[in-house]
Amino acid sequence: MIAHELEDVREGMGRDGAESRVLRDRPAGCLLQREIRARQAICDAARAGRAEIQLYDLAPIPLYNQDFEGDMRPPIVKKLLADIADADGLVLCAPEFNHSIPGVLKNAIDWASRPAFQSVLAYKPVAIMATSRGPLGGARCLEHMRTALDSCLSRIALAREVIITACETKITDGRLVDETSLGFACGAVEALLKEIALWQAAEVKPQ
Ligand SMILES: Cc1cc2nc3c(=O)[nH]c(=O)nc-3n(C[C@H](O)[C@H](O)[C@H](O)COP(=O)(O)O)c2cc1C
Repeated sequence: MIAHELEDVREGMGRDGAESRVLRDRPAGCLLQREIRARQAICDAARAGRAEIQLYDLAPIPLYNQDFEGDMRPPIVKKLLADIADADGLVLCAPEFNHSIPGVLKNAIDWASRPAFQSVLAYKPVAIMATSRGPLGGARCLEHMRTALDSCLSRIALAREVIITACETKITDGRLVDETSLGFACGAVEALLKEIALWQAAEVKPQ
């Protein structure tokens, strides 16, 4: 997990143009979308000096096209993949869209998933979180994230599920203020940090 200026990260915690600017300007590592609801937990971990965070804007990533793989990838996709490769871990946090994950996130996963089983996502520690306004609170989004990441051989950090229901009642001024949800989100970040530490210490790793 990587990031630099925490002041900039904090600036990016709002829902307005400042957030978009920060996201656009940041290279990747921690893949976050505009509607993130758990960024506060991530930034809290970073403030504690145990992680550096970079926010990432997936909106400019073009649609996946298998005719443009390898060296043919668009430069922005090459940068996305390089940034994922550089990151120790990823946090994927997304709203549920039509009982699944947002297309922009799935599109990024598709680009990052090649070459199959040897991609930058293979064995990469990942924390997953989902939000929605509905009563099921992104449970289906979370499962679909897990399914897609399973196919990439990613290492999803073992934690209690972060599913933030009725998110419009738990966000104030762009910050997650619901203590219970925050606890779950912090738990997932903790689990990710542990997974990264375990992975870095492992003597035997898959090729
Ligand atoms: C295209 C679209 C599809 C959505 N589909 C679902 C859904 O299937 N289930 C659900 O609970 N919420 C759904 N939502 C609500 C989003 O999850 C919600 O907008 C998101 O969590 C962001 O919260 P906000 O509207 O307060 O910004 C959908 C929203 C959009 C824009």
